[in-house]
Amino acid sequence: MNILEINDLSKVFNLHILNNKKLEALKSINFTVEEGEIIGLTGKSGSGKSSLMKCIYRTYLASGGQINYRSINGMVDLVKATDHEVIELRKNEITYCSQFLSVIPRVSAVDVVCENLFKVNTNKEAARYKAKGMLKQLGLPEELWDAFPVTFSGGEQQRINVARAIITSPRFLLIDEPTASLDPKTKDVVVDMLLDLKKQGTSILCISHDEYTIEKLVDRRINLHMGEILNLN
Ligand SMILES: Nc1ncnc2c1ncn2[C@@H]1O[C@H](COP(=O)(O)OP(=O)(O)OP(=O)(O)O)[C@@H](O)[C@H]1O
Ligand SMILES: [Mg+2]
Repeated sequence: MNILEINDLSKVFNLHILNNKKLEALKSINFTVEEGEIIGLTGKSGSGKSSLMKCIYRTYLASGGQINYRSINGMVDLVKATDHEVIELRKNEITYCSQFLSVIPRVSAVDVVCENLFKVNTNKEAARYKAKGMLKQLGLPEELWDAFPVTFSGGEQQRINVARAIITSPRFLLIDEPTASLDPKTKDVVVDMLLDLKKQGTSILCISHDEYTIEKLVDRRINLHMGEILNLN
């Protein structure tokens, strides 16, 4: 059974500073995601990968088409859903992990990882225990656990970002470049964590330029080229 069905999706940006020039970032996108499937979203820089992910997460409102998501409470078209419905889905089912960590000032690494878990689980100590286990698995030095991630290296921030996204075992995960700044050993840990999530039933859409990650992780690829799907296999 599919969890997501995208029909004829388009996204046009109006570039106000360029005399309302229109930029067609996504054109007639059609695909489905099965439950428990990992799809790799590939394509050159500027091909529309992040825009597609942001349309699904509703950071961007699509210009046309449908994004039918099968939630635990029934079908929702994420293009037409109310803001309230979107907020509930983000809280309970759909998680988005951007390419870079948006750092929260003066919050410890452990508590940044716990952010989504704190929203649904009031037992803070149990949440922190889980977060520490993940940070240990990801090889983040223990002396950094209580430090503020603002000064962390790119790879350290990326590990915090990934841990924060997967700690709640979301039903549907949108993840943008999870391994870009990681060394090979840590890449393997992240890939294994994502495969573990899949075993628990999570469906994943993963953007990556990293052929190694794609090879090990995905069931199927969708390749974008100038806003259109080039091949489905
Ligand atoms: N908010 C926006 N306003 C205007 N144009 C945008 C906006 N977001 C994306 N675009 C444009 O849409 C096109 C696709 O961008 P997008 O970020 O989706 O590419 P991408 O495939 O994720 O690239 P990369 O691999 O570099 O991250 C680009 O031409 C980009 O300039
Ligand atoms: Mg991108």
